Amino acid sequence: MKPVRSNRPLLLVNIGQLLTLRSANGQEPRRGPDLNELAIIENGAVLCAGGKIVSVGKTKDALRDGWVKKNKGEVVEIDCRDKVVLPGFVDSHTHPAFVSPRLVDFEKRMAGATYEQIAEAGGGIRSSVDDVRRTRKALLAQKVFSALNEMLANGTTTVEAKSGYGLSLDSELKSLDAIRTAALKWPGTLVPTLLGAHTVPFEFEGKPQDYLKVVCEQMIPRAAKRKLAQFVDVFCDRAAFSEEDSLRVFEAARKNGLPVRAHISQLVRTPLQHLLSFGPSSLDHVDHVDDSDISLLARSNTLATLIPGANHFLGLGKYPPARKMIDAGAAVALATDYNPGSSPTTSMPFVLSLACTQMKMSPAEAITAATVNGAWALRLQKSKGSIEPGKDADLAIFDVKDYREIAYWIAANTCEAVVANGAVFPCSSFE
Ligand code: NIG
Ligand code: FE
Repeated sequence: MKPVRSNRPLLLVNIGQLLTLRSANGQEPRRGPDLNELAIIENGAVLCAGGKIVSVGKTKDALRDGWVKKNKGEVVEIDCRDKVVLPGFVDSHTHPAFVSPRLVDFEKRMAGATYEQIAEAGGGIRSSVDDVRRTRKALLAQKVFSALNEMLANGTTTVEAKSGYGLSLDSELKSLDAIRTAALKWPGTLVPTLLGAHTVPFEFEGKPQDYLKVVCEQMIPRAAKRKLAQFVDVFCDRAAFSEEDSLRVFEAARKNGLPVRAHISQLVRTPLQHLLSFGPSSLDHVDHVDDSDISLLARSNTLATLIPGANHFLGLGKYPPARKMIDAGAAVALATDYNPGSSPTTSMPFVLSLACTQMKMSPAEAITAATVNGAWALRLQKSKGSIEPGKDADLAIFDVKDYREIAYWIAANTCEAVVANGAVFPCSSFE
């Protein structure tokens, strides 16, 4: 299949399993038994035009459709030959604005050091800062763009991208600028997030409040004013910022009209109550939550975004209590957390595999968490995450007969092609 980037309408036919993820109740994120509802159409078809989905149904009906028949010469038809089509993945948590892999940290961990010990010894997030500060925006944008293309090749069409390795006003804004530059070239959809409060940089060692002042009084207002970020994030944990600091960041975001999200309880528990009072779109990692946190999450529309790639890569042997959260009614999402320190993967299928094998989610729950609920985590539920008329034409075609295979094959990419905002790309075109 050749890349098709045209304004012509697109008709996908002979889809073995079309996972629409349509829902009667689109008013809130999916939770409980609804996470298993994929709304599959067998022998399905999807018609797209102008970057939007126009109609969804059976192949035989699509081919008989009056408009399709009349415009046959205009429509680009793709025969999906019984394969599986689902909404493009929404990867709602990534950190692509970095320059180099952290191989020394990797080796140290294999020799027994923990994530926190490595950070205290000068590795960790702060060791990614120097080269980001030194790198020109254009090169950083190129790094982000390559990661985005890898993601697209794995079926992801919407990505949230955080800054967070600049840790100075200039370098955080440069990172967000680089993300914007990459977004302009990329056919998918990018959502930028300011993560100035990722950790305290070396020059503010022992003076975290002074650094927070820069974040709250300079970075957040400037990013908001230049519309460089759609969210503000904070790393609230033992290795980074306290609950009180994080609430200060949330307050500054609110003052500047930006919604919030947080990295929370990855290393040690922080009670969720106060952070939840800001109505964050998502709280991410949530490894160390107790029953009271889970019941607060279940009563909120805040997504609990699980990041099993980090647990895997850090060799923790333990994963967030996904089953407990789902059974209690919390709305869970799944994301890669692509970053050089704890989760160097761009592959949502790999994350689905971990969600099933390590957290005991069903393949259907994992797909819903990686599509509809990812869209909710980015406040894009009206345009992304399901295959329904009026939504953006974001689709992934997988070369499998059964959707469960997407989570089943380990470290394999069975994605054959993607449609991003109506443009078609064979995955082989990214190799
Ligand atoms: O999501 N937890 C904080 N931030 C990243 C790790 C960043 C890094 O180590 O570079 C995470 O795991
Ligand atoms: Fe992260």
